[in-house]
Amino acid sequence: MKKKGNTCIVGLTWGDEAKGKIVDILAAEHDIVVRYNGGNNAGHTVAFEGETYKLHVVPSGLFHANATCVIGGGVVVDPKALVDEIVRHEGKAAGLRQRLLVSSRAHTIWPWHTRLEALSEKHQGKGKIGTTLRGIGPAYADKANRVHAIRMGEFLAPEHLRAKIERIVENRNLVFTKVFGEEPMSAAAVWAEYEPLGKTLAPMIADTTAYLLRAAAEGKRILFEGAQGTLLDIDHGTYPYVTSSSASAAGIWPGSGVPSRAIGQILGVVKAYTTRVGEGPFPTELRNALGDQIREQGHEYGTTTGRPRRCGWLDTFAIRYAARLNAVDGIVITLLDVLSGLAELKICTGYTVDGRPVAEFPDDPTVLERARPVLETLEPWSEKLTAARQLKDLPRAARAYVKRVEEAVGAPVRIISVGPDREQTIFRR
Ligand code: GDP
Ligand code: IMO
Ligand code: MG
Repeated sequence: MKKKGNTCIVGLTWGDEAKGKIVDILAAEHDIVVRYNGGNNAGHTVAFEGETYKLHVVPSGLFHANATCVIGGGVVVDPKALVDEIVRHEGKAAGLRQRLLVSSRAHTIWPWHTRLEALSEKHQGKGKIGTTLRGIGPAYADKANRVHAIRMGEFLAPEHLRAKIERIVENRNLVFTKVFGEEPMSAAAVWAEYEPLGKTLAPMIADTTAYLLRAAAEGKRILFEGAQGTLLDIDHGTYPYVTSSSASAAGIWPGSGVPSRAIGQILGVVKAYTTRVGEGPFPTELRNALGDQIREQGHEYGTTTGRPRRCGWLDTFAIRYAARLNAVDGIVITLLDVLSGLAELKICTGYTVDGRPVAEFPDDPTVLERARPVLETLEPWSEKLTAARQLKDLPRAARAYVKRVEEAVGAPVRIISVGPDREQTIFRR
């Protein structure tokens, strides 16, 4: 790939588009990799030299020894999950602690967040969101509400933080005991567990906004790593079945401090079909043997929670909306190899609602629930694709599929992925 300054990798659907693989590849030609949204609800997979690594909150550029990895202020950090991840991967990610920066502005996830979310989802019953139960929603809610929020920078003043945790736990215990009839939690136990985590992370806590603005001015190349996907974006996604952060490219500026003008190119990632985890409308879902076949061929089980992913045809109508919203320069199609050997192959190019075609991707969840996909049949192929390294190595039907997706989405395909490994990738000029 040609060096093009700063780049953003963003999911165009409901997450798990293989952003991690693409970030890992592109990190080789960037100086800095920045996560700007979400937390350890994300599960990004990187595979090379026969090994597979699962990342949740550390940027997927960690395996490149020259890359500085930044966790931006828009991320919510579970200190325990972050330390676990650093320890798990530092053997393979040389010098990680010296080149990982965590924004002092990033908000934090605590045991009261995960516990509250578990209780809330349980009490919702059928009306639940189907979250990853990582405390993401409650942590962002506290950030917006300000009163009980804790930012990473507060670990640098432990005595202040200890007293604050006591106040917060006292308040949260009112909710646990009086609303849910549950046992209270112990502030002392929380502090005993989190004080050492804070000590471990303290050397990595920094004003990353200042760092990134300086780096951008010096011409350093920055790669922005989106978590989740545009259809899970709190503002632009399929609300309320979304995550609690700006999961589109709209999150880059608030989530990193780097103004959007500084971003060179935005690449939107899609799978060759569509998946979704958790609840919420999914117009192209295949609740049949074909959907099961795609799930098995694509190993579509969640990286974070292990839940089976719902599978369906590629929804180019939704992707076209996401591509416009992110102003993508190009798209990346991943997992194309998974479609080999299907008896039939379709893509969705529009929706009808109550029998009438709709012009725009629906803003109303009750309308989206009623949307029926307009499907176009394409020619399937049986050949395996994993050895292809250039477009011409793909069978004719697979090339035609890529071309049709490009037209339907209205953006050029820049990269095609035909297997989980770094090497199993086709770059287009
Ligand atoms: P992310 O959250 O967007 O980073 O994506 P995930 O890592 O959650 O899910 C993508 C899954 O597909 C991972 O298990 C990857 O190892 C795998 N994967 C990535 N690219 C390809 C590909 O081109 N073909 C196949 N078969 N698997 C892929
Ligand atoms: P990556 O970065 C797929 C989904 C959850 C649920 C909704 C809200 O790996 O693509 P949350 O825990 O965020 O409050 O859950 O969002 N979700 C994801 N789905 N990939 C992800 O991340 C996701 N992160 C959250 O399943 O439907
Ligand atoms: Mg994932």
